Amino acid sequence: MDSEREVPKEILHQIMENANWAPTHGLTEPWRFKIFTGKSRKILAEKLMCTYLENTPENAFSQAKMDKLGRNPLLAPVIMAVCLHRDRNGNIPLVEEIESVACSVQNIHLTASAVGLGGFWSTPKILETNAIKEFLRLGNEDLCLGLFYIGWLKSNENMPKGNRTPVSGKIEWCDFVSD
Ligand SMILES: Cc1cc2nc3c(=O)[nH]c(=O)nc-3n(C[C@H](O)[C@H](O)[C@H](O)COP(=O)(O)O)c2cc1C
Repeated sequence: MDSEREVPKEILHQIMENANWAPTHGLTEPWRFKIFTGKSRKILAEKLMCTYLENTPENAFSQAKMDKLGRNPLLAPVIMAVCLHRDRNGNIPLVEEIESVACSVQNIHLTASAVGLGGFWSTPKILETNAIKEFLRLGNEDLCLGLFYIGWLKSNENMPKGNRTPVSGKIEWCDFVSD
């Protein structure tokens, strides 16, 4: 992505408006997004590095991993922490709330794609730490489900080619039911 080319606010608002129309069991609307643009990306990058340093035993520490945590948030103009706000009475199973947030991310990705923006979801382990939860001002029961990157392609790059095995292997027409 071209990290210097900003995404106009109107486009970002439309993307987030569409995120807000994900399906939601019990109308709990569990999706929350903490959006980092401009200089705040640097603060996120520093927090990720510092949390990694403080939460990784010496024998498991990888300098390459830490460098990546510090570098990645600066590779896109917009990076958002995808969060789940757990409804207070917890009537809806957690898995359904996760599904709902995932649907809202898909709305984000589809809307971004429709205007020519790239999107990428990543889930560094470090997001599960209390330090990151506090940084993102999440409640005890809330979760951070990943970071979603949005940006325009660099002018000298082509959109990466998608790679999926055929859908035919993943569906079964249940005609036998009526036999
Ligand atoms: C919930 C979720 C978490 C993901 N986490 C990572 C990740 O941490 N690192 C990574 O390289 N890809 C991760 N991916 C995969 C990428 O977002 C992306 O889907 C994959 O690279 C294939 O690219 P494409 O979807 O553009 O075809 C994740 C996908 C999902 C749905």
